Amino acid sequence: MTAFCPYPIGMTSATMQASTGPATTGPDGDTILEVRDLKTYFPIRRGVLSHIHAWVKAVDGVSFSVRRGKTLGLVGESGCGKTTVGRTLLRLIPATAGTVHFDGADIFNLARGPLRSLRRRMQIIFQDPVGSLNPRMTVGHIVGEALTVHRIARGAERNRRVGDLLERCGLGASCMNRYPHEFSGGQRQRIGIARALALNPDMIICDEPVSALDVSIQSQILNLLSDLQEEMGLTYLFIAHNLAVVEHFSNDVAVMYLGKIVEIASAEEIYRNPKHPYTQALLSAVPVPDPTRQRTQVVLGGEVPSPIDPPPGCAFHPRCPLAIECCRQELPFLTQHAGCTPDHRTACHRADEIGPTTLVDHSCGTGEQTGKREDPT
Ligand SMILES: Nc1ncnc2c1ncn2[C@@H]1O[C@H](COP(=O)(O)OP(=O)(O)OP(=O)(O)O)[C@@H](O)[C@H]1O
Ligand code: SF4
Ligand SMILES: [Mg+2]
Repeated sequence: MTAFCPYPIGMTSATMQASTGPATTGPDGDTILEVRDLKTYFPIRRGVLSHIHAWVKAVDGVSFSVRRGKTLGLVGESGCGKTTVGRTLLRLIPATAGTVHFDGADIFNLARGPLRSLRRRMQIIFQDPVGSLNPRMTVGHIVGEALTVHRIARGAERNRRVGDLLERCGLGASCMNRYPHEFSGGQRQRIGIARALALNPDMIICDEPVSALDVSIQSQILNLLSDLQEEMGLTYLFIAHNLAVVEHFSNDVAVMYLGKIVEIASAEEIYRNPKHPYTQALLSAVPVPDPTRQRTQVVLGGEVPSPIDPPPGCAFHPRCPLAIECCRQELPFLTQHAGCTPDHRTACHRADEIGPTTLVDHSCGTGEQTGKREDPT
């Protein structure tokens, strides 16, 4: 069977657009990145003629905004499409549909010249600190490459700038002549950060920059990113697979499941008043810094469904302890629900009935909770 992509680039679904609406525009409206109904589908080809057999719907209608100088945490399990969102925003992967505006510029319709200038303003720190650094290049070349490509600095001036960047990221300028394999994981991630800063960007997409690191090193890197944000007024899209990492780092949080955002709000609101059962399950794994209190951990059963053929209705329904008949048939859209702040949107048919303790006992639980659930009805 030959499948075809129903959404050529530039065409958006008006109904989805209306239901998702602006998600996290700041009170002053100072939004630097505006993503609307973004879809990224990968073709699966088969046979001698490489016919398209199916599509992997890695990102399937995602809308959010990022406020200037702030951090939006993008959280979800492995395979839910976080990296694909980040790479599509930078045009490293072609989008299937949707629009992305960066500081007012329509990224997907930019000509080569303006796109090149814009690339200087948006950088990425990759998920894998080992694989993202060319082992044949010295640290000086890795960090200074962009300065050469964009014809910003050469020779001694370039070396001076690279030295400054390395110092700023907690590595000595003397590291310049060494190779990536001579560094630890945390140091390599610092090199990746120095490279991202080389062009003095406005925004950095941090794709799980600490997930491959030990906990103690994680906090050093998070502190470094936080200090740099304060010094340079950087905006971050911070991708992580658990809510613990983004808790103290993000101003806003978006939770993704199988290519869609299922809940989005300010960080304070999402930790205080999580509405989506999936967010509650993720949150239940976050340790409480109080020895007299514990949360019962919700362990989700079943596998994450395939993004090639996602379940009908709410894609979370095969794993959701609160699923009802309508969840199996109707797709829930992101909407504001009773008792939530205006910027808090949840895609769940039962969000109005769900409180912060519906799935998770925050007061005194001591173990895992796999089957026991209080049904809100
Ligand atoms: N180039 C590609 N071709 C086909 N499918 C792809 C491609 N890149 C990613 N995918 C699929 O898209 C989905 C989303 O992948 P993505 O890497 O964005 O997930 P992720 O949320 O970043 O996961 P992780 O936390 O493991 O990094 C996955 O099912 C993945 O297999
Ligand atoms: S819509 Fe239904 S299945 Fe989906 S999260 Fe809400 S209750 Fe669960
Ligand atoms: Mg990823």
